[in-house]
Amino acid sequence: MDSVFSTQELVRTLAPEEPVIVARPHRVALAARWFARRFPGAVFYAVKANPADWVLDALWDAGVRAFDVASEHEVRQVRERYPGARLAFTHPVKGRGAIRRAYAEHGVRIFALDTAVELDKILDETGGAADLELLVRIAVPGESAHHRLDRKFGVQGAEAAALLRSARASANTLGVAFHVGSQCLRPDAFGVAMDAVAGIIRQAAVTIDIVDVGGGFPSPYAAPQPPAMQLYVDAITDAFADMPVLKDADLWCEPGRALVAEASSHLVKVELRKGDRLYINEGSYGALFDAAHCGIRYPVRLVRNPGAAPDELRPYEFYGPTCDSIDHMRGPFFLPADVREGDYVEIGMTGAYCAALASRFNGFGAAMTVFADDAPMRTMYPDADAPQRIEALEAASPL
Ligand SMILES: Cc1ncc(COP(=O)(O)O)c(C=O)c1O
Repeated sequence: MDSVFSTQELVRTLAPEEPVIVARPHRVALAARWFARRFPGAVFYAVKANPADWVLDALWDAGVRAFDVASEHEVRQVRERYPGARLAFTHPVKGRGAIRRAYAEHGVRIFALDTAVELDKILDETGGAADLELLVRIAVPGESAHHRLDRKFGVQGAEAAALLRSARASANTLGVAFHVGSQCLRPDAFGVAMDAVAGIIRQAAVTIDIVDVGGGFPSPYAAPQPPAMQLYVDAITDAFADMPVLKDADLWCEPGRALVAEASSHLVKVELRKGDRLYINEGSYGALFDAAHCGIRYPVRLVRNPGAAPDELRPYEFYGPTCDSIDHMRGPFFLPADVREGDYVEIGMTGAYCAALASRFNGFGAAMTVFADDAPMRTMYPDADAPQRIEALEAASPL
């Protein structure tokens, strides 16, 4: 891994032939500090968003001590790196062996569930431990989010109330957890969810120790723009105060995207231009899965020599390097009219779920990581405590 100052310098000095992850650990730290200061509760980082060591180290160095892990591999990775970390195993469906080893070998005490069968599995595999912290995952409406997460996991209504009662009988600490969906564009979705959860707690008539509002905090991709992050925190704070069913509960959240999206971009090379189609060396089987299949429009900019004049922008589609026709990112991505073979494009805000989803299909997908200390293309934290150099969006770099 190399260290450079900026994307422009990287192109000038390395002229990379393969995609490059431009890593900005200072932005991980900045987002973590923002959440630590503004979120009125515990922050568990959702490791699945980006499990790279440099990301985890930046979080740890910024003071993050709690991690949301969803697989045994993530449990091991975080435990081996930070023996003192607090781990929440939040996948509602876990293998028996994974539960057993998480408890006995890795010190995990926090487990999520959304069925009575999973509760039995957790009790069986931990020998009916007396120190379990159980989170019952409630299904809440997901229509305000770009990626809905309410169709696979979560329990509702009377079934949820019954599960809370059963879990209460075995839990040292009992919580409710939900996820409003990833890239949630409406802060009030959290209030709606917390209101629904309060109804279930009332029906169950049990003491709840934790309200875990999950992830969903958004990032500013090309469109549509999310409201300010503070509005999400305000909505959660207000809704938490309005849950009369709680006596002395703790508030938790599990952000993934919001802590890491700004922390890296991908520098890609244009291998060919056919009209408004750019064939680039990164694609849907690599880091751009969400651009191809989930309609995420990452901001982009052309990285050219210093002194080049900004040009008129026009819309392009991207095609990735594999031989598959679905390796196609519709965009539109706005770049100068004269983009040509050999140019470099920086695709911004790729820190969340991009590198983590990349495969090596067709022999592509290798990416070098370099460290930069410049600003990301966009930010959710304009008022945070670091120097900001926010650059023109979707514009040719005037360099
Ligand atoms: C249980 C859980 N918590 C947290 C997250 C992180 O969500 P986000 O990246 O939207 O903050 C996810 C994402 O899938 C999740 O499944």
